[in-house]
Amino acid sequence: MSGHGEAQPMTSAKCGPLRGTAAVPGDKSISHRALLFGAMAVGETKITGLLEGQDVLDTARAMRAFGAEVVQHGAGDWSVHGVGVGGFREPADVIDCGNSGTGVRLIMGCMATTAMTVTFTGDASLRKRPMARVTDPLSLFGAQSYGRKGGRLPMTVVGAANPVPVRYALPVASAQVKSAVLLAGLNAPGQTVVIEREPTRDHSERMLLGFGAELSVEHSAEGHVITLTGQPELRPQTVAVPRDPSSAAFPTCAALIVEGSDILVPGVSQNLTRNGLYLTLAEMGAQIEFLNPRTEGGEPVADLRVRFSDTMQGIEVPPERAPSMIDEYPILSVVAAFATGRTVMRGVKELRVKESDRIDAMARGLEACGVTIEEDEDTLIVHGMGAGGMPGGAVCATHLDHRIAMSFLIAGMAARAAVSVDDASPIVTSFPIFEDLMNGLGGAIRRG
Ligand code: S3P
Repeated sequence: MSGHGEAQPMTSAKCGPLRGTAAVPGDKSISHRALLFGAMAVGETKITGLLEGQDVLDTARAMRAFGAEVVQHGAGDWSVHGVGVGGFREPADVIDCGNSGTGVRLIMGCMATTAMTVTFTGDASLRKRPMARVTDPLSLFGAQSYGRKGGRLPMTVVGAANPVPVRYALPVASAQVKSAVLLAGLNAPGQTVVIEREPTRDHSERMLLGFGAELSVEHSAEGHVITLTGQPELRPQTVAVPRDPSSAAFPTCAALIVEGSDILVPGVSQNLTRNGLYLTLAEMGAQIEFLNPRTEGGEPVADLRVRFSDTMQGIEVPPERAPSMIDEYPILSVVAAFATGRTVMRGVKELRVKESDRIDAMARGLEACGVTIEEDEDTLIVHGMGAGGMPGGAVCATHLDHRIAMSFLIAGMAARAAVSVDDASPIVTSFPIFEDLMNGLGGAIRRG
């Protein structure tokens, strides 16, 4: 569980050109889901390439507490002996999801339509995040929840003994909420329908189909209408987890801003619900070539050749693109500081309820590094200083947020003076090999 250990300060200094291959670990979203769907199937699911980040390890531990047999056989190589839809046993203790919003929200969905009482908690970051967005729709199935003020963890959820199916239009563009509703719908009789106006990552839908559930997606005037037939018998699968495009964003963006860089980032997902950053970088004039397009682990992927790009221009990022790059705004705001002109990011208020308030964390840290920022509740604007233009020389606060920590360490690789972070320990939640991988490419990141 992250956030319980000691703070780990880290410093990143200006470095020479980055060279080599950046093979990033497995996708976090798909790793969580492989464990959850495996636990709800009857029989043994085999997983390769599982992300062994703390968030996913916390989900693996939770699935054991619900009665699934989860075993690690080798690096990234896992199996899950599932108990079937509705077959969870009531955990004997509190479920601690550490830093993971995806973990806690999806697990709440998994248990909400089974007669059991479960108390959830998490680290100081997760205990600040809103859970009502999930418990509101789960109450429509008949589940009850009792949490702290504002729907915060710790929270006890009483699963519905006689669940009813639900029709729910998402009030926020959130794959976590969509997935929680679909997971709850698995153990409700009849058809559960989720409607999303803007498409969000579709890994749950793809995986449900792979595990043999009956699910359809229609495109109507209301948006995407996803219909799931409840109480299927899920068939165990072999899941090959593709690399995480949100982790790939860090070496990619580092190569764009560090003079003389030329790297290869293999197997980056081109799934349209995840690739918004790469479209945005292309519009800014980034030198990225998409090589060898193919399918891996059921996802469209390509190898990226990324070169230093000293003529990137700030752009207006279309707000409707936000769901497909929601986790990439922190690192985009670093790239924006090394472009010329303003980069305007509107429609991004969801960033305020991530592992930290990411608009505030990036704004304060970039300002400390000498960058001019404008912000309001739903907007972040970065005034670019051009290639090599960021003064740096600051200590930035990470607020238990892995992506804030990694973003400022990447900034330090190209800023004029070194950039430090007060606590890099949360990086283990999603990208445990970050420091070694970046230094292996030529970075100068050190502890302290
Ligand atoms: C995730 C969905 C996103 C994302 C998170 C992972 C998922 O959250 O920020 O890191 O795996 O479903 P929201 O769906 O709440 O936007």
